[in-house]
Amino acid sequence: MTTTEKEIDYSQYPYVDKGLEGIVAFSSRKSLIDGAKGELYYAGYDIDSLARHSTFEEVCFLLWNERLPNKAELHELNEKLRSERDLPEVVLNYLKSVNKDSEPMAVLRTATSMLADEDPESADTSSEASLRKAIRLTAKLPAIIAGFDRSRNGKEILSPLKKNSIAFDFLYMLNGEEPGENAERTMDVLLITHAEHGMNASTFTCRSICATMSDIHSAVTGAIGSLKGPLHGGANTAVMNMLKELDKDTDIVAFIKGKLERKEKIMGFGHRVYKTYDPRAKFLRTMAKDLASEVDMEYLYEWSESIVKVMKEEKNIDPNVDFFSATVYYSMGIQPDLYTTIFSMARVSGWTAHYLEQLSKNRLIRPRVLYLGNENLEYVPIDER
Ligand code: SDX
Repeated sequence: MTTTEKEIDYSQYPYVDKGLEGIVAFSSRKSLIDGAKGELYYAGYDIDSLARHSTFEEVCFLLWNERLPNKAELHELNEKLRSERDLPEVVLNYLKSVNKDSEPMAVLRTATSMLADEDPESADTSSEASLRKAIRLTAKLPAIIAGFDRSRNGKEILSPLKKNSIAFDFLYMLNGEEPGENAERTMDVLLITHAEHGMNASTFTCRSICATMSDIHSAVTGAIGSLKGPLHGGANTAVMNMLKELDKDTDIVAFIKGKLERKEKIMGFGHRVYKTYDPRAKFLRTMAKDLASEVDMEYLYEWSESIVKVMKEEKNIDPNVDFFSATVYYSMGIQPDLYTTIFSMARVSGWTAHYLEQLSKNRLIRPRVLYLGNENLEYVPIDER
């Protein structure tokens, strides 16, 4: 006789199994999310001022060290990140030989794991070695993404120029030409706004792997697997696929209402923590408007705003980080199935920052489970079943 969900008196347990909703599982100094006010701070600095004034490399330093760098420290980190952008031969060969139709997030997951085999410190879980590996991972993920995209399109994989920012070299390796200032800055802001976000599913995965004292490559590989899911990072690709179903004659209100009636989730909307506009969505909304009009795709932004209006009226749900980022990436000419990999090359800074924090005060993460199944059954030989 098993226990049904309804029969459980949850009041006698500290928590309920609703996706750990509202549960405080960790303490952290990496970021603060105020879900009611729609505010986000990285180690004390609000996302708006970081997006306006900082760089992704400076945000990496901030997340890893919980303070902003001085000029010399930032220069040293930039130099280290530039020097580590090359990929090992074995990874380049994988990118050239892997099935061209593979999902980019699956290729990123595999190639990231392969980096461990080539990293001389892969088994060293000290915080000093882990920070060095965090820098190498942050430097190399962009090259994996760009390399696979070029290879699957029959183009030569380009080596990084090892100059300027991660955003600059990524766009160069992806498109084969040095990006203009505008494109580099747009990519840099995208990386900043996607860098860190508290205890989201992929960061939770990362910390859970770290907590067994496993290595940082395993933790980041696991986090990539988690972010791949459409309820998490995979939403931005799904948003673009939804926008591509529309055309100038589509009745957008009916289109969205139809999905809602069929109990379909509208990708890019809703959030476990934000109960108002995601502050990153606010920033990306402006970018989407500007970029879409620059490339004569204003219709994408207009359609997006119509969807925002319907979702607010019908479900009182606001857009999250993934909604407008889709239009920004598309306006930059980036393939929709690459969007979540770009999310990953930003969030690797947050994942590794949390890995280092978990290391500093580690305890194995092992929650309880409430057993609902049968009990005390007698084993029956197979001939009698
Ligand atoms: C990211 O956690 C993070 O910080 C993540 C992230 C980060 O930076 O790491 O912010 C990045 O993952 C953003 C989220 C990207 N995912 C999506 O856009 C997928 C669509 N969103 C939903 O699946 C949903 O909103 C979640 C998963 C994001 C949050 O869901 P919850 O907190 O588990 O809430 P729920 O699914 O239980 O929904 C509560 C109600 C339900 O209605 P009822 O069944 O109670 O009537 O709200 C409805 C849901 O149906 N709802 C939606 C909806 N999101 C919630 N209905 C339609 N479309 C949606 N998108």
